[in-house]
Amino acid sequence: MTASVVIAVITWAARLLAPSPYGRLPAVSACWHPRRMPSDSLRFAQATTTRDVNPDRRQALIDCWIDVSNAGGAAGFPFPPIDQRDAAPALDAILGNLAPQTCRILMALDGDDLVGWLNIRRDAFALIAHWGTLHHVQTRTDRRGQGIGVALMKKAHAVARDQMELEQLHLAARAGVGLETLYERLGWKEIGRWPGALRLGPGDDRDEVLMLLELGAEEHTGRRQEHA
Ligand SMILES: CC(C)(COP(=O)(O)OP(=O)(O)OC[C@H]1O[C@@H](n2cnc3c(N)ncnc32)[C@H](O)[C@@H]1OP(=O)(O)O)[C@@H](O)C(=O)NCCC(=O)NCCS
Repeated sequence: MTASVVIAVITWAARLLAPSPYGRLPAVSACWHPRRMPSDSLRFAQATTTRDVNPDRRQALIDCWIDVSNAGGAAGFPFPPIDQRDAAPALDAILGNLAPQTCRILMALDGDDLVGWLNIRRDAFALIAHWGTLHHVQTRTDRRGQGIGVALMKKAHAVARDQMELEQLHLAARAGVGLETLYERLGWKEIGRWPGALRLGPGDDRDEVLMLLELGAEEHTGRRQEHA
């Protein structure tokens, strides 16, 4: 056996025995994922009008949402299982509102495969039009732990700041699955919580965590590269 084969076997065994990056997280996060950087073929696309979403892409968005929700993901359907009848009208409602300044879908694509997506929204009312919200942040369950979620979020920051000219982003996250930590690493701050606001089931109340990102204050590295 060559030295390189021995090293490869030891590396594989070490990865297998290493604690899950998702630690004590339940259900959706309990499976082991290989740690990889996003593949070179990862790219982003946006939908800013309904014309940007063809029938295949619409179905891929729906399939992803069903997959993520049925794995217990906090992406807008808290009571799985769901199916096409739940996800399709919800997606169509978003598609019907698409507009460059007020509602965009940002998609992570590997080649032509949709691997994750999110929705950026702003209310056009002048009092609050300087900030927006993120919704339905999700990556496909078979592509977790590969850096796609972080890449998608960073791209969303750039789109919100540079294309929608937003000054802040807000989001509400379900407590108890470690999402605050993930977002804090990306520059977000927890600014409060609604204690016990989310009743996932009898005896399973969770806080709703309110998170804020100041788009001027977050790291600007790669700002120029983020226009793609
Ligand atoms: C949250 C989510 C988008 C992350 O996607 P991903 O492609 O796995 O993200 P990455 O590979 O870029 O991982 C980023 C980091 O987040 C962590 N992470 C991943 N999923 C997490 C979760 N559900 N909770 C907390 N942390 C998580 C990973 O451990 C990783 O940290 P590491 O690099 O130190 O190991 C994905 O897990 C998902 O779709 N979850 C279900 C829906 C959901 O909860 N959305 C958030 C709505 S507010």
